Amino acid sequence: MLVRPRAIVAALALVGALVGCESRREPPPPAEAPKLDPDVALAERARDELQKRLMGRVMQAVAEHGHAEAVEVCSREATAITNAVGEELGVRIGRTSPRTRNPENEPPPWARELLVDVPTVARHARDQDGALHVIFPIFVGEPCLRCHGAEGDLAPGVKDALAARYPDDHATGYAAGDLRGWFWVEVPPR
Ligand code: HEC
Repeated sequence: MLVRPRAIVAALALVGALVGCESRREPPPPAEAPKLDPDVALAERARDELQKRLMGRVMQAVAEHGHAEAVEVCSREATAITNAVGEELGVRIGRTSPRTRNPENEPPPWARELLVDVPTVARHARDQDGALHVIFPIFVGEPCLRCHGAEGDLAPGVKDALAARYPDDHATGYAAGDLRGWFWVEVPPR
């Protein structure tokens, strides 16, 4: 009975001290804002968009007509889809590989320098005019093996479709997880 009021006063003082201390404390430093170069962010958006559109179109064609016909769809539409994404986002974009299927998927001259040691991570560099050059690695996933895998993994009819359309195809024999190639993106100077 005698102790209680003092205990309450002490407790209140402690709370007051804590609150007071809290309110005098320096505000926490703002969370470290990501300092992503807006041009790199734009290149990433373009890469994401192209990946989404190409795979969306290929998987739709596979679902409707099977893999062999999807090879044809891909060969007819991949370049137009690629160029459309580039125009929409105001960049130049494409795909390349050390082992191309489509011989038109040669890298632009600037990309050779960034790709010289076959990197498995994204890289970027600016040229003297201020254009940003970016490369993003592309890895082989399970669904890719139906058209890019070893002979036993290819879907029925794909081998013939490839032979007919791509007599100089270098893009089979891959396993899941392999490096398949790169997206390259060129963001013009602002
Ligand atoms: C239905 C068959 C099919 C599937 C599935 C497929 N591809 Fe392809 N791929 C092609 C064809 C055909 C080309 C050549 C036409 C083009 O895209 O320029 C190609 C081209 C490419 C290229 C451009 C470089 C080159 O060799 O000319 C890359 C990179 C690529 N494919 C990666 C992949 C990845 C990664 C997957 C899985 C996520 C995949 N492909 C799934 C048929 C396919």
